[in-house]
Amino acid sequence: MRSEMENDILKILVTEEQIQTRIAELGEELYQEFEGKNPLFLGVLKGCFLFMADLVRACQVKSDVEYIAVSSYENATSSSGRVKIVHDIQQDITDRHVIVVEDILDSGNTLAFLSEYFKTRGAASITIVTLLDKPSRRTKAVNADYVGFVVPDEFVVGYGLDYCQQYRNVPYIGVLKPEVYSR
Ligand code: IMP
Ligand code: MG
Repeated sequence: MRSEMENDILKILVTEEQIQTRIAELGEELYQEFEGKNPLFLGVLKGCFLFMADLVRACQVKSDVEYIAVSSYENATSSSGRVKIVHDIQQDITDRHVIVVEDILDSGNTLAFLSEYFKTRGAASITIVTLLDKPSRRTKAVNADYVGFVVPDEFVVGYGLDYCQQYRNVPYIGVLKPEVYSR
């Protein structure tokens, strides 16, 4: 496929095939845990959008889908530490089994904040599913219940993840060339 973004990619960390194989496994594990529980898949926008689409199809459990949008980055590659709700959930989650779907767990700020928030909104249980986990950068005590891949301390893009809102449509997880950041 033609891609004008390919030249900006230094290396591929996780291929499309590896992503899909792992999602099939996660879908099966989630099915076993949530069969008959009518869970709510709650995606954290925007980074989750591709992962969410593939994960819910890999887990054929009776469920529904909801989104929340937060921002913690001011177009940089490190977190500001503050989390702001940009678009709130549109339904009552009281007594629901919430499956939070996130692109990457980095410092933990976002998921620490959201776990607390969904608790105060009355969720019966909160399960965190993250495609990527960067444990080396954690500053908050938060762990994911399901992890797709552990990645090293490098800024990654693709499959939903962005740099300055771009590269989300790169179909794999990759690392950008250093010169991209100095443009
Ligand atoms: P945390 O709050 O530091 O855990 O960061 C979570 C959010 O930061 C994720 O949902 C991503 O949107 C963003 N993020 C963290 N690391 C990366 C990365 O390597 N690439 C792209 N986005 C990232
Ligand atoms: Mg992001």
